[in-house]
Amino acid sequence: MCGIIGYIGSKPATPFLMEGLRRMEYRGYDSAGIAILDGATLVTRRAAGKIAKLEASLAAAPVAGHVGIGHTRWATHGPPTERNAHPHLSADDTVAVVHNGIIENANALRTALQDTGYVFRSDTDTEVVAHLVQELFDGSLEEAVIMALRKIEGTYGLAVVSSRDPGKIVVARKGSPLLIGIGEHEHFVASDASAILAHTRQVVYLDDGDVAVLEADGYRVLDIDALPLTRKVDKIDWELGAIERGGFAHFMLKEIFEQPQTVENTMRGRLIVEDGTSKLGGINLTHDQLMAIDNIIITACGTSWHSALIGEMMIEELCRIPVEVEYASEFRYRNPIVTDRTLCIVISQSGETADTLAAMREAKRRGARTLGLVNVVGSTIAREDDGGIYLHAGPEIGVASTKAFTSQVVALALFTLKLARKRGLSVTRGMEFAQALAALPAQIQQVLDRAEQVEHIAAEFKRAPNFLYLGRGVNFPVALEGALKLKEISYIHAEGYPAAEMKHGPIALIDEMMPVVFVAPHDAVFDKVVSNVQEVKARKGNIIAITSRDEPALQGLVDYEFRIPETVDLLTPILASVPLQLLAYYIAVQRGANVDQPRNLAKSVTVE
Ligand code: F6R
Repeated sequence: MCGIIGYIGSKPATPFLMEGLRRMEYRGYDSAGIAILDGATLVTRRAAGKIAKLEASLAAAPVAGHVGIGHTRWATHGPPTERNAHPHLSADDTVAVVHNGIIENANALRTALQDTGYVFRSDTDTEVVAHLVQELFDGSLEEAVIMALRKIEGTYGLAVVSSRDPGKIVVARKGSPLLIGIGEHEHFVASDASAILAHTRQVVYLDDGDVAVLEADGYRVLDIDALPLTRKVDKIDWELGAIERGGFAHFMLKEIFEQPQTVENTMRGRLIVEDGTSKLGGINLTHDQLMAIDNIIITACGTSWHSALIGEMMIEELCRIPVEVEYASEFRYRNPIVTDRTLCIVISQSGETADTLAAMREAKRRGARTLGLVNVVGSTIAREDDGGIYLHAGPEIGVASTKAFTSQVVALALFTLKLARKRGLSVTRGMEFAQALAALPAQIQQVLDRAEQVEHIAAEFKRAPNFLYLGRGVNFPVALEGALKLKEISYIHAEGYPAAEMKHGPIALIDEMMPVVFVAPHDAVFDKVVSNVQEVKARKGNIIAITSRDEPALQGLVDYEFRIPETVDLLTPILASVPLQLLAYYIAVQRGANVDQPRNLAKSVTVE
């Protein structure tokens, strides 16, 4: 979603701002802009559409200055036009503001400001902040911002500059992430570490309620009463290469191909094959607490919700503890049964998804312990959960989640193993599961080595207007995930269904035009899936099957087959999801779609 970047130092600000905006493009946006203090004047450049348009306008009329802020906007209040693009200026053009989040009392503030003569130039909620800061300014930008914040209700990551107090950027965070980057005689602010990684690895993650003042030679963190706070300096530990395409045509393809390593990284130092268990330092759950769990709720959105469904089956099968999976957006608005013996597992790649964060807070409020499975280090969910398992999948830049999904399933498997062994799973079964986990990286590589086969299947079906994905048991969520991947990047309508449920409605859709993807590895429900394949074949559907061995029962029924290596039933989703990621990718590429930045989508959904 929206992205914030700011620079203050001795060098020209524009290149830093534009590079930061480029690095945040993956998050999804529909307009962009910058504001730079050029001497005593604030100069803004904004453009609707892609950053290239903003670059063209800067090339035509460059802006000088060593202090500036920039923004990529994903429209919420008002259409994605130049006039609604950030930064927004105060009425007297002395204050510029960029903002992520939503100001809930914007209408009331707008009316009050209009009554005192302020004229608004955009439809955004953000503009009220610029006018408020102008109105309240009395010599110090941070004091004016703090006074303005006291009047604002809602969420914000904010960066503000003013020509009346020019040597600083004032930033503030409540419910929308912000970090400060520390350089040599220069400082940065960003909503996403990737925006500044090329220049510094030393960062301070701000907490909700923090206000900070950045100057070229230092920074101060304050609370809402302007009292100084101490915040620790963290080090970002990924390499720049992790946020670059490195020879791949798209980030999504790179991330699909990284999965042997990312799955390995999720397990590194945690899987203890010889004892058939796992070691998870961060979960902060004692033996007694693990034994006391009565029920588990897993909450998440989108792809992370699909991994939660797989986690449910793993935990129920091996730990015999009841598990419920909840869409985070639904969980927070109903009256769930949560006790102090409930463990709430929260899954989020970004660690910033608004609904997931709110669901976690709600579960905590109701007395549950929370366990976050998060990829982005230092993200809000990771900081607020009671314990966690970082995925260690590295930055995921492609909007369609791939490597985070397989790492989520692996992290769930590690947790299941630990809990199951505590709750009575035999060492022999634990070892069998652990050995299967250890074998996954090489097996994923075997799948990837045959990516061309999937590319060939994609070419056959790239013009299909609809797809059906079917699977049973632990592979039903894989069918959902396969369908989601296809629709989000290729814009083909696709549905995932439990294979046997098809008879209760979707079977009406099947004819010779309908490709049906069966996720059919040789597991406990394979024979049942064969019956469903026959039902589709009888209605002339085109069948693509993901199988794991030469299956005589499928001969003559399947039009295209892709073979994955064999593993234990509960881990088949990890191997079966990889060809489906590739299928979605190749179809989207062959249709000429923008794979890494699909329309309307944002990488991290920080609004409700
Ligand atoms: C799909 C996708 C989304 C996310 C969802 C949750 O490819 O990426 O469905 O999975 O928005 O995001 P996180 O995991 O960051 O909470």
